[in-house]
Amino acid sequence: MTALIVEELGKDYRTRRGPVRALAGVSFRVEEGEVVGLLGANGAGKTTAIKILCGLLRPTSGRATVFGVSPSRPEVARRVAALLEGSRNVYWRLSVEENLRFFAGLQGVPPREARRRTGELVALFGLEDKRRTTANLLSQGMKQKLALACALVKGTPLLLLDEPTLGLDVETSHELRGFIRELARAHGKTVLLSSHDMGVVEDTCARVVILSRGRVVADDLVPNLLSLFRTQAYRVSLRDGLPERARATLAARLPTLRALEAERALEVELPPEQDVYALMDALREAGVAVDGVSRAEPDLEDVFLRIVQGER
Ligand SMILES: Nc1ncnc2c1ncn2[C@@H]1O[C@H](COP(=O)(O)OP(=O)(O)O)[C@@H](O)[C@H]1O
Ligand SMILES: [Mg+2]
Repeated sequence: MTALIVEELGKDYRTRRGPVRALAGVSFRVEEGEVVGLLGANGAGKTTAIKILCGLLRPTSGRATVFGVSPSRPEVARRVAALLEGSRNVYWRLSVEENLRFFAGLQGVPPREARRRTGELVALFGLEDKRRTTANLLSQGMKQKLALACALVKGTPLLLLDEPTLGLDVETSHELRGFIRELARAHGKTVLLSSHDMGVVEDTCARVVILSRGRVVADDLVPNLLSLFRTQAYRVSLRDGLPERARATLAARLPTLRALEAERALEVELPPEQDVYALMDALREAGVAVDGVSRAEPDLEDVFLRIVQGER
């Protein structure tokens, strides 16, 4: 079954200065068992989309369904848990254990089962010696782990995680990424995760939906997005640098040429109709001595920047 369907979703916030368009017709789907990243710069519309999907906000236009029903329906709460960005996802005056039991109880999990899950999650997140510590005394990283644990204790098949690693130190961020990967692999969960951090998305998600100013500008498997750019970018290291006279000749043949590292290397992104032979011919004709040619391997950050800048 399809876990999430988002169709032409639009959201305008009413403000004193007039409407602010946060989503301008966003469509995507998430199948059961997928871990999908919602990637975008600040203000792209990620939080708005997630709030609509967990029923906290109503869209201005379009529609969303979660396991076939509208997020505004009460029964959706049994199938979706959300970890919202920056907000207090846990009760600061309750201890770690009390928080977990409380959220399990809210979900209608019977007390015995709630105790069992609480024990499991406390162990999983390494919070054993903080069981009785009130949430406000936990470090930022532990608070975030507790917040994720509180979302998990509900036992819902779908998790919406808004910026789950925001503000965490590198080590805790990597630890949380590991937990998130396990959610789908070992527990069969479906996850939609938003982040402006490409590393987080590259580490946890198989597929990514890129938002830019309220629109979807890419929606594909991460390896596909990477290979989209991999095929055309080359890096050439030069034996004797780039002679002055070669420059004009090369620039005419290869308009996308960039000189790097005090002219000891070139980077060029070939247009689709050219291949690496055309590049080598151009270099030879210009009298440039080549030391080596390699493909410039893009990462998700390159892909993101190119797609988002290309769209502007
Ligand atoms: N409550 C609100 N009132 C007015 N504008 C808002 C509100 N929340 C978000 N926005 C605006 O909507 C746009 C999308 O915001 P948001 O969904 O928070 O993006 P993201 O999570 O990707 O950073 C931004 O321009 C933001 O300023
Ligand atoms: Mg946000």
